[in-house]
Amino acid sequence: MNILSVASEVYPLVKTGGLADVVGALPAALVPHGIRTRTLVPGYPAVLHKLKKKKKVGGFGNLFGHPATVLSAELDGLDLLVLDQPALYARDGGPYLDPTGRDYPDNFRRFAALSLAAAEIAGDNIVPDWKPDLVHVHDWQTALTPVYMHFGSASNMPTVLTIHNIAFQGQFGASVFPELALPPEAFSMQFIEYYGDVGFLKGGLQTATAITTVSPSYAQEILTPEFGMGLEGLLASRVTRLTGIVNGIDADGWDPETDPHIVEHYGPATTKRRAANRKALEERFGLTSTAGPIFCVISRLTWQKGMDLLAEVTDDIVALGGKLVVLGSGDAALEGALLAAASRHRGHIGMVTGYDEPLSHLMQAGADAIIIPSRFEPCGLTQLYGLRYGCVPIVARTGGLTDTIIDANEAALSAKVATGFQFRPVTADGLRLAIRRAFRAYSEPKVWARMQNQGMKSDVSWAKSAERYASLYSGLLAKG
Ligand code: ADP
Ligand code: GLC
Repeated sequence: MNILSVASEVYPLVKTGGLADVVGALPAALVPHGIRTRTLVPGYPAVLHKLKKKKKVGGFGNLFGHPATVLSAELDGLDLLVLDQPALYARDGGPYLDPTGRDYPDNFRRFAALSLAAAEIAGDNIVPDWKPDLVHVHDWQTALTPVYMHFGSASNMPTVLTIHNIAFQGQFGASVFPELALPPEAFSMQFIEYYGDVGFLKGGLQTATAITTVSPSYAQEILTPEFGMGLEGLLASRVTRLTGIVNGIDADGWDPETDPHIVEHYGPATTKRRAANRKALEERFGLTSTAGPIFCVISRLTWQKGMDLLAEVTDDIVALGGKLVVLGSGDAALEGALLAAASRHRGHIGMVTGYDEPLSHLMQAGADAIIIPSRFEPCGLTQLYGLRYGCVPIVARTGGLTDTIIDANEAALSAKVATGFQFRPVTADGLRLAIRRAFRAYSEPKVWARMQNQGMKSDVSWAKSAERYASLYSGLLAKG
């Protein structure tokens, strides 16, 4: 079976969050099921620069007013197609934002072009000698693909749309509609019209053959007004097409026995060796060495991630004898609040702003616990890395965090299955209480070691979830 996967980011070429990790890791996990994936991404400068050997395999004379080339390349086992269209993608800045942090004004065109290119690759002879059996798209940036396919030559090919985060919907003024190269009837409730605007994700949810999201709990939550962000009604009407499949992790890239970014390798039986990583972490963040637990946070600094709640409990962590290290960037006010905490508690709280993949590995290997106080979390990956690295997760009970962490309540502790701490309500007090519970468990080395061990033994690989995607794909193809 051949799959065309379409996404706006893919690890290790371009990453702003977990979407890239998932798009980068799922293809390898599907190979044992006889599924070959080609992944189409935009030709951002970073992508073109990192791919040394690329071959022109096709092109478009005029895609939204500009020529575009389709390149093919391989990287770390990924079979890539790159949409090289300098007019849309050759920019300074990130995949979505200009260097000053503002959305590119033509994002609707940049991602409509990606979606249209995908639909044409599926339906026409753009890439010679290759056709997918099914197209799998991710998030709003590629959600117009099934809409273009519906009105194009691949209208019978099944499509899967995965929601990684329903908060981002790709909603634009109606004035962009004439530019989208869609027939007039597409601007209707059945397709992309959304409260008088154009909704990319909305259009995709209406037309995709199947909809998935990245955990079973989030699949339930987005059916409610609290989490559905206005799309709960539409999703309810398509609920038989909706499933939640929890993300896995790239178990080779995230393996404490071989990780090139950490100081000392270790496994479930040798967690004592984490000490060297802890020491390196203390040095890196300028912490004074003491016996208390080191908590870490690796996150986008946003309201979704509950970073304001973290800022509220920093003094408590220090008062209880703990340390905190934070790696993140995002909202300036949240960044300011956490930097202020770091300067208030020099030697006890350290903060690195920005994006640093190697440091994120060292933090998971050296810290004792990772705090994830998200208000909503479709899946979350840092708690999975935490499990694998013996860095005990303290998480809000929401979305994928609910599904992947076993709370250390009395029953779970006595059954020896606990892997972390969950809290609800998601408030500063809720978080404070969970941190106190973590301190208590940490003071009993046997209890803590058992939790670490239990986490490190849990299966966070893609194996089970890849099987679920494989059976979803086969089911859709069997229905024809
Ligand atoms: P989201 O995609 O919502 O940001 P996830 O938990 O799914 O959340 O994925 C976040 C990914 O980005 C993880 O791989 C995490 O390690 C990484 N990450 C987040 N912030 C940083 C940072 N400042 N530096 C390095 N990696 C980061
Ligand atoms: C989104 C979600 C996150 C999820 C990731 C990958 O960024 O916020 O919870 O883990 O996508 O699916």
